[in-house]
Amino acid sequence: MIKNKSLVSINDFSKDEMLRILDLAADFEANPDQPLLTGKIIASLFFEPSTRTRLSFETAMNRLGARVIGFSDVNATSTTKGETLKDTIKMVSNYADLIVMRHPLEGAARYASEQSSVPIVNAGDGANQHPSQTLLDMYSIRKTQGTLQNLNIAMVGDLKYGRTVHSLIMAMSYFNPTFYFVAPDELRMPQEYKNFLDDKGIKYEEHHDMADILHIADILYMTRVQKERFSDLLEYERVKNTYVLHNDMLSVSKDNMRILHPLPRVGEISTDVDQNPKAYFFEQARNGMFTRMAIIAAILGAKE
Ligand code: CP
Repeated sequence: MIKNKSLVSINDFSKDEMLRILDLAADFEANPDQPLLTGKIIASLFFEPSTRTRLSFETAMNRLGARVIGFSDVNATSTTKGETLKDTIKMVSNYADLIVMRHPLEGAARYASEQSSVPIVNAGDGANQHPSQTLLDMYSIRKTQGTLQNLNIAMVGDLKYGRTVHSLIMAMSYFNPTFYFVAPDELRMPQEYKNFLDDKGIKYEEHHDMADILHIADILYMTRVQKERFSDLLEYERVKNTYVLHNDMLSVSKDNMRILHPLPRVGEISTDVDQNPKAYFFEQARNGMFTRMAIIAAILGAKE
């Protein structure tokens, strides 16, 4: 039962609930004009910058007929006067029926869900989780591959701080994937996620060279090296250009292979890839709008 549930970690939803969201997203893609939430108010609280997540969530809210309150610049809020997250959430949950929140601190969304009288949807908390991104990634994978089952999923780039890859491996673990992790030593997949895969009996390999996996992957999930997560900027400079995907590298890839990226990109996918039919990242971002309509509608009980 998704109604009234917070979505803080992808593990808050069962496999069946995730699949329900994907089916609802397909329904919204086929018929986007469904003003099911007229009279509802949804808060959009972005304590950290965003383009896609905030705008696709807010578009989803508007398409569903809800009214939207919130902020995208924390400097315009009383946080700058020292108001705590707890007090902010207690206030906003007096006003809104649902809160969508992005915050730079890991665990902030879980903490907010413990203070709030209305459901919280985590739109990204530090390097921890980004569950709505995961659901839109799953939607994009299923749409392009026709299945979620038994896929070879390569993840490239910042696997240490990349919250999208952390959430995605957890969700895809229900579907017998094989993961190929490609990262420099400084940005390898953290041990806790590898332990999770070991416990579930999910296969994975670790590589340094993207060329090792380009002929194997069904999904090539590229990520940005996130400058904002580094305390040592010299380390960022050392690793930021480790992997750059160019169009001519794709000649060895499988016909069904699709390139995903949560975006924004800053150089890890050359623009010469954009015209390749295997480039799927802009469609992926579009899918986010339908997936977020599904998440909001399900939590607010408009679709059961
Ligand atoms: N994918 C993603 O989270 O993008 P934004 O940071 O622009 O929201």
